[in-house]
Amino acid sequence: MKEINVGLVGYKFMGKAHSNAFKRVGMFFDCPVQINMRAICGRDEAGVSKAARKFGWDSYETSWEKLVTRDDIGLVDITAPSDAHKVIALAAAENGKNIFCEKPLALSLEDAREMLASVEKNGVAHQIGFNYRFAPAVRLMKQIIDDGKIGAIRHVRASYLQDFIIDPDFPLIWRLQKEVCGSGSLGDLGAHFIDLARYLCGEFKSVAGMQKTFIKSRPKVQSMTGLSASADAGAERGEVDVDDGTVFIAEFANGALGVFEATRFAQGHKNDLSIEINGDKGSLKFVFERMNELQYFSAADEPGLQGFRLIQASEGIHPYMSAWWPAGHVIGYEHTFVHEMFEFVSAIDAGRPASPSFADGVECSRVIRAVELASERRAAVDIDTL
Ligand SMILES: NC(=O)c1ccc[n+]([C@@H]2O[C@H](COP(=O)([O-])OP(=O)(O)OC[C@H]3O[C@@H](n4cnc5c(N)ncnc54)[C@H](O)[C@@H]3O)[C@@H](O)[C@H]2O)c1
Repeated sequence: MKEINVGLVGYKFMGKAHSNAFKRVGMFFDCPVQINMRAICGRDEAGVSKAARKFGWDSYETSWEKLVTRDDIGLVDITAPSDAHKVIALAAAENGKNIFCEKPLALSLEDAREMLASVEKNGVAHQIGFNYRFAPAVRLMKQIIDDGKIGAIRHVRASYLQDFIIDPDFPLIWRLQKEVCGSGSLGDLGAHFIDLARYLCGEFKSVAGMQKTFIKSRPKVQSMTGLSASADAGAERGEVDVDDGTVFIAEFANGALGVFEATRFAQGHKNDLSIEINGDKGSLKFVFERMNELQYFSAADEPGLQGFRLIQASEGIHPYMSAWWPAGHVIGYEHTFVHEMFEFVSAIDAGRPASPSFADGVECSRVIRAVELASERRAAVDIDTL
């Protein structure tokens, strides 16, 4: 059996999710390759050595520059914050490593394009972490659309709502600093529904939108990871220079219309990603917090008995589910990462392009940039001008 030796950069939120995924792929899927978890990388030796032990990595590094040149590593997985994606990916590609990179691909559209050009020039495999594509119910949604069951798509309606930064004294984490994250609610949350909309409905044609920063300064951070952080009481404040909330409308190349909302100021909503698609023969709706379910309305159903049906996308006949448990034994967030890693190593083994790729990352960054420009200009922006 072929082997793939992995080196992972980052050991916190996504680092843990990806470590778990690499461990589970071979256990649950008929994986065509053996995955070896060779090394995990972080800057703090105490933290990364503990993560290596806890997550089951063979070794650790405190410098990504060293990691990407190691001969015993063939796949570099990047889960550092977004400002580090490009520099690590370019070096990994130059060293001939296959690359998995978390979303958003880069801080800017230009950087994302540079990353795509580099992986293509160096002939390495590449995938981006749009993990919500890998929920079985989303795959089922795609199958139903591709089978023509909801007909011509007329509307896409998506939102990604969180509430974790409403307190004005919540600290200035890296997700609120443009130089580290590139974009706020739009790039962090919106990137996911932009990708889902592209996956399910096709390319965006034009957008118009508005972005807002509600809380303009916050206490500087003492320590931070993932979505949490701590700050000293009375700590010095720093400027928030990214959007707290973004709304936009869109037209798709196929003529459909879209309405989108990304925010971290929706009280009561924790990780509320939802997308609804209306076609002329039916509708589909996916809500991530009920990720095992898909709502489907078919206008072909008998009159008088029509209504949204709730499909439990948890049987072996549903995408990815045959690898897991008996029908109705539902799966969760972490499984989406297992599925995306299965896709990546399977693609590498088969010598076919992985999906979603860095090209999908670039297209997503293009829509993000268009929404930012539209918001600045207070006017619609055509995607093909970027
Ligand atoms: N797919 C998803 O749903 C999803 C969810 C959360 C985050 N993300 C993305 O994943 C990335 C990381 O987010 P997170 O929430 O895991 O962040 P985090 O703050 O929890 O972890 C970041 C990790 O990167 C490490 N790191 C930072 N700079 C580094 C450097 N120069 N060299 C080596 N290691 C470095 C940190 O030590 C830490 O271990 C971001 O790009 C984010 O947008 C994706």
